[in-house]
Amino acid sequence: MTDKLIIFDTSLRDGEQSPGASMTREEKVRIARQLERMRVDVIEAGFPAASNGDFESVKAVADAIKDSTVCGLARALENDIKRAGEALKGANSSRIHTFIATSPIHMEKKLRMTPDQVVEQAVKAVKWARQYTDNVEFSPEDAGRSDVDFLCRVLDAVIKAGATTLNIPDTVGYNLPHQFGALIRQLRERIPNSDKVIFSVHCHNDLGLAVANSLSAVLNGARQVECTVNGLGERAGNASLEEVVMAVKTRRDIFSCDTRIDTTQIVPSSKLVSTITGYPVQPNKAVVGANAFAHESGIHQDGVLKHRETYEIMRAEDVGWSANKLSLGKLSGRNAFRSRLQELDIVLENEDALNAAFTRFKELADRKREIFDEDLQALVSEVEVAMVSEHYRLLSMRAHSETGILPKASVRLNVGGKEREAEMQGGGPVDATFKAIEQIVHSGTELQLYSVNNITSGTDAQGEVTVRLSKGGRIVNGQGADTDIVVASAKAYLNALNKLHAGAERAHPQV
Ligand code: KIV
Ligand code: ZN
Repeated sequence: MTDKLIIFDTSLRDGEQSPGASMTREEKVRIARQLERMRVDVIEAGFPAASNGDFESVKAVADAIKDSTVCGLARALENDIKRAGEALKGANSSRIHTFIATSPIHMEKKLRMTPDQVVEQAVKAVKWARQYTDNVEFSPEDAGRSDVDFLCRVLDAVIKAGATTLNIPDTVGYNLPHQFGALIRQLRERIPNSDKVIFSVHCHNDLGLAVANSLSAVLNGARQVECTVNGLGERAGNASLEEVVMAVKTRRDIFSCDTRIDTTQIVPSSKLVSTITGYPVQPNKAVVGANAFAHESGIHQDGVLKHRETYEIMRAEDVGWSANKLSLGKLSGRNAFRSRLQELDIVLENEDALNAAFTRFKELADRKREIFDEDLQALVSEVEVAMVSEHYRLLSMRAHSETGILPKASVRLNVGGKEREAEMQGGGPVDATFKAIEQIVHSGTELQLYSVNNITSGTDAQGEVTVRLSKGGRIVNGQGADTDIVVASAKAYLNALNKLHAGAERAHPQV
């Protein structure tokens, strides 16, 4: 008999705490649908008390998702818990996740509360949460640096108050695997009625040990792992979902539990999260990196051809790597387009959005012979962006590069309803384009990152550009895709400027 290991995905909450990774409501719903399709057990959709936008996003996910439990985060405060309860009202299955810090440094310096006050607040929080759902998770934040006796006291009290999952976070990624595993074992052994609740872990990757610590906890009885797609998350990120799931599946000889994840959805999920957040996946990333199944040396290639398992412990197709799937072509009609979107679980908000997407598809098909699923994903992201009111919109542009001549670019923008035009020279056509945009908008932003990835292969592939801009402490990522990478760059730059312009402020749960 193998136990069930619950996969709790927090890409939409902790993942969103990565600089610039904030997602719109529509983007969150798209990712949540993909997580549901991957058979994630619990989706942490956000922190409803952070802002009205966050509340609406959690509500939209709760309303859309049927097969996974939808969870909202709340500090141990009555209003936070009320907001989470209200946002989750429409969910088929809901969970409130409430937390308060328990380490000496957090209690004294951040909360300015005594240990007794922390226990009292934790108990109140769990009782408030139980008024909305009987599925309540409690986390002693910074458990990895908390005193074990105190942890036992808090956790015993919250079980009595009605918590059903106890999540042990290594908030600052400080623990080593043997130590973290031993902590979970001790808590399970010392806390009365620990067998009546699920022990969960939430590990950060500051020392590159998030997955190792999570797996060590599983070996010591944890039965829920909190993780994110591509390991996205605060600072160095969280434990990566794909690595945890594949480690448990590949090493069945070691683990006495398994997940219900459909592993063939891992790569599509990774691509979607990367596209939406603008966080590229490093080529040598385990499981989902472009090179994860590439064999470079002759000896390895020879071995794999003779017998695949000589150098492969997992099969690429089991995690969803397949040759790019040809989706549609120039002659595909509206119905074929609509039904392919349905098959990909892409739901556009209304008929206008579908029309806009179809027009964009036809334009793309004129320039690109074959349209792949990845192209459709990028195209829909763009249409969704364009449907929300954009302060800055690209009307047209021209870029010129020629050997021996300084490149130049001219752009025509719609800025808040007025047309503006500028031409500038630059070190290359992209540089000239950004300078021309800046000549019009004078944004005062700093360019922190510029990266280009091809969405599919071939020289007619769409280039997907990510631009990261910062201004006054705010960081945003913008994305743009086009078969012309200079145009994609302009779109990405304007997308980032629009996000800065929208400027919705949100509270951070841990500040
Ligand atoms: O890292 C952390 O401690 C958290 C908690 C809110 C669980 O994200
Ligand atoms: Zn965290």
